[in-house]
Amino acid sequence: MAPNPSTQVGTATLTYGDKSATLPVLAGTLGTDCVDVRKIQGDLNVFTFDPSYGATASCESAITYIDGDEGVLLHRGYPIDQLAEKSTFLEVAHLLLFGELPTAPQLEKFTSGVMRHTMLHEQIRRFWDGFRRDAHPMAMLCSVVGAMSAFYPDSINTHDERQREISAYRLIAKMPTITAWAHKYTTGQPFMYPRNDMGYAENFLYMFGAVPTEDYKPNPVLTRAMDRILILHADHEQNASTSTVRLAGSTGTNPFACIAAGIASLWGPAHGGANEAVLKMLGEIGSVKNIPSFIEQVKDKNSNVKLMGFGHRVYKNFDPRAKIMQKTCYEVLGELGIKDEPLLDLAIELEKIALNDEYFVKRKLYPNVDFYSGIILKAMGFPTSMFTPIFALARTVGWISQWKEMIEDPTNRIGRPRQIYTGAAARDYTPIDQRG
Ligand code: CMC
Repeated sequence: MAPNPSTQVGTATLTYGDKSATLPVLAGTLGTDCVDVRKIQGDLNVFTFDPSYGATASCESAITYIDGDEGVLLHRGYPIDQLAEKSTFLEVAHLLLFGELPTAPQLEKFTSGVMRHTMLHEQIRRFWDGFRRDAHPMAMLCSVVGAMSAFYPDSINTHDERQREISAYRLIAKMPTITAWAHKYTTGQPFMYPRNDMGYAENFLYMFGAVPTEDYKPNPVLTRAMDRILILHADHEQNASTSTVRLAGSTGTNPFACIAAGIASLWGPAHGGANEAVLKMLGEIGSVKNIPSFIEQVKDKNSNVKLMGFGHRVYKNFDPRAKIMQKTCYEVLGELGIKDEPLLDLAIELEKIALNDEYFVKRKLYPNVDFYSGIILKAMGFPTSMFTPIFALARTVGWISQWKEMIEDPTNRIGRPRQIYTGAAARDYTPIDQRG
């Protein structure tokens, strides 16, 4: 489904030198209006300058809407709290990909379509032999997902709607297997093959936790929590990794290569790597009594220390996902009978102090989705290195939905930003014996 086109709601005039350009102002269904600057070079012979895209809409999209001031997140119009409470990950995946919540027969078809693609080609399994045992699982995810294009050449024709759909099914279905196997490789345990009779999150927990020598049935409360964590990470409009996927996809490269690029972009600690960084930070703080000195370091501009799990480019209010994460955190700890989790006590105290500290209040820095997710995942038995891969597994749905939307948008063309060149002006080559 191509995005609904925005509508022109006015014009803005930009004058530069002795020329003036009248630029259309476009509005979508919700959100800030945008000045359409596409003709600015032709009309005024200037470009716009917005290095980290803080003021730039890169596309039209009908998938996800964020109101950062109000702390609102909608997928295809549905609020995230309702989806997290009432829906399932595969329902949300259907919603993101196809635009609507599925009917019962549609959900059954979609679920069986996804669950029938969970196995990996046996040759892919051999990729793991090439990794060191201590390789970060995100490195494994990047490589194995990129390599999938060599195994499924039948589904890489981006111009064929059916092939695009099969690629989407394959990626959504195989990510849990790849993610669980990355963990198994690290621990030296045998890889567990997927179980198509299980639900999506249940199958992932099974492949992660089971060993061939024993029966293993994932705990239903933890399965529901896992499913909710996946929903909360499923999509987040034009963030760094999604924009990476779109930029890669704009060249016409295959979807597996695009998602591998997205995984690479997600890995950074400012983005998906923050959940791992939060746990590391809490471990380093160690105790509530060390919080004030840690906060002082965070506020010291020369220290380069950030309060991980706080702040967001778009949210200038509570990240709605963080609130649901906090609730899920209590449910998981309750189910596991963990009455005293020092990391949670530390996180709650840190949050309390930060929310009242002028530095954070002034900058509108609130907890984001990653602040509590690590504590839940740790309680569920995941090592910290698996936190970002689980984010990647969930976000694959958002990436592939955004990629599909972009490919189906007739106005799509290769993404190609411009620059302000600040290097040397043209000069002649100097022979080496004349260089000073
Ligand atoms: N701790 C301390 N100061 C901060 C933080 C933080 N976590 N985040 C922002 N600031 C300060 C920043 O130094 C700047 O201060 P000043 O105005 O004095 O220069 C001000 O707040 C505005 O921040 P910014 O750097 O312009 O914000 P940004 O939009 O460029 O960065 C961010 C957003 C998420 C990268 C940043 O807030 C950050 O690094 N947070 C910690 C990492 C994190 O939790 N990332 C997960 C984001 S949510 C999930 C995801 O996207 O994957």
